[in-house]
Amino acid sequence: MTLFKRLTSRLIILFVIIFVTIAMTLLWFVGNSSRSFEQQATQALHEELAAHMLVESQILRFGEIDPAALEHTFHNMMLLGPAFEIYVTDTEGKVLAYSADESKIKRKQIDLTPVKEFLNSNVQFPLVGDDPRHQSRQKIFSAASIYHDKALQGYLYVIIGSELEDEIIANLTSNKILNDTLVIVIAAIMFALFIGVILIWLITKPITELTTSVLNYQEQQLWQKGLKMALLKNNTSWTSSIEEVQLAGVIENMSINIANQFEQLKDKDIQRRELLSYISHDLRTPLSSLTGYLETWQTQFSKISPQESAHYIEVAHRNALVLNGLVEQVFELAHLETGSVEIHREPIAVAELAQDIMDSFDLRAKEAGVTLDVSPKDSSIQVDADIAKLERVFGNLVSNAIRHTPPGGNIVIRFSTVTFNGQDKVQISVQDSGIGIAKDQLPRVFEAHFRASNKVDSETGNAGLGLAIVKALLALHHTDIKVESEERKGTCFSFYLPQYRLF
Ligand SMILES: Nc1ncnc2c1ncn2[C@@H]1O[C@H](COP(=O)(O)OP(=O)(O)OP(=O)(O)O)[C@@H](O)[C@H]1O
Ligand SMILES: [Mg+2]
Repeated sequence: MTLFKRLTSRLIILFVIIFVTIAMTLLWFVGNSSRSFEQQATQALHEELAAHMLVESQILRFGEIDPAALEHTFHNMMLLGPAFEIYVTDTEGKVLAYSADESKIKRKQIDLTPVKEFLNSNVQFPLVGDDPRHQSRQKIFSAASIYHDKALQGYLYVIIGSELEDEIIANLTSNKILNDTLVIVIAAIMFALFIGVILIWLITKPITELTTSVLNYQEQQLWQKGLKMALLKNNTSWTSSIEEVQLAGVIENMSINIANQFEQLKDKDIQRRELLSYISHDLRTPLSSLTGYLETWQTQFSKISPQESAHYIEVAHRNALVLNGLVEQVFELAHLETGSVEIHREPIAVAELAQDIMDSFDLRAKEAGVTLDVSPKDSSIQVDADIAKLERVFGNLVSNAIRHTPPGGNIVIRFSTVTFNGQDKVQISVQDSGIGIAKDQLPRVFEAHFRASNKVDSETGNAGLGLAIVKALLALHHTDIKVESEERKGTCFSFYLPQYRLF
């Protein structure tokens, strides 16, 4: 049953049905029209036949047959050959006399409508009338009205193409030449059918191959091996249509995308597992320190001095803060990656915001011996962004910069307005004169939990999540961050935000 569901089989079946129907219709039409043409010619040729016969003899007088005249007419008829049969009818169509054997006559009444039509001057050939030798058959004829003393007596009705002729034609049909012709015609039809079937098979072959390749790709799950579908090499043969080549191209591209996305998902999955194990490790260190100090304080409480007691509590508290910071960062990153975080854009005087951030880091900068600056201090530059998220971005970048800049260094947040693709943007960069990052590690600094070999730990502990959070926050603003760095010279993180303009 599946055979009939295949495209090729369906097309072949459809083709065969249409082809055979057309061939049969054509044969029938040609046969019929040649028969009709032949009848038309024969009848036209013998149009005057009946009239000519009547000229010589007066068959009917006062509705009565004159046997001698009839005999004479039939005799003349015989001379013309067996192709004609003569009937004499009265004015109502009743057959009064005939040239044939009595036993062969099947009806003695004929319909006179075609006869009257025949006698009309505008007659159209071929015109058929009842054949008295058959219950229902009709044949071409010639007819003439029989008058006596200007009164209509009846009709002379001559059937053209007698029964004898029919027999001869029937015999001829089984004739060898006709049979041979038929065989040749059937052979030609079969050949055309064969060629048609082969062409259909050739045309549908690329689609069949395409389907097989796609099924194979699916069954073997080749995308899991990062393989793309190789369809085009099979589909660029001359039998492939433009549409099939295009389809193959589209499917190939789709398979490349599927394989790539599968790879990305796999990578993401691995990264996630790694992150989870790193984070649990990061959490374990401050947690065990916290519980360790608290337990010691609990057991030693009565024996130690108040100063030592305060020290234990202070260390435990510091570890609790580290834990708190880590947990908050992990939550923040996880939250950002859900894709459900929305931003609320508003016009921000970005230099003022940067100055506020710098002020909040003032103490830490003084401790680290670095200077903080914002350039230019132009409060007219406004960006269209989410203020809380932008604060977070600046906070992470500046805290990184302070940690990685030795005393005597400086950190500057710079702004410049640029226009590209017809859009006004503000380029924002956080630049430090710190220790820099090794070239080979630069591409990885935005990965969650990646910490370069230059890393400097702060008191509150670092999990390497800060830059991943910055990148995710900027992605919400549909912008990306890039980093340039030179070891022992400094690092510069920069990104663009849309400039806010009132007009
Ligand atoms: N301004 C900088 N100068 C030099 N190295 C930097 C700078 N900023 C980041 N890095 C390097 O990139 C790494 C990743 O930074 P990121 O902010 O993601 O993590 P972290 O600061 O180490 O930890 P966290 O931000 O979670 O406290 C840092 O560990 C550091 O090695
Ligand atoms: Mg950081």
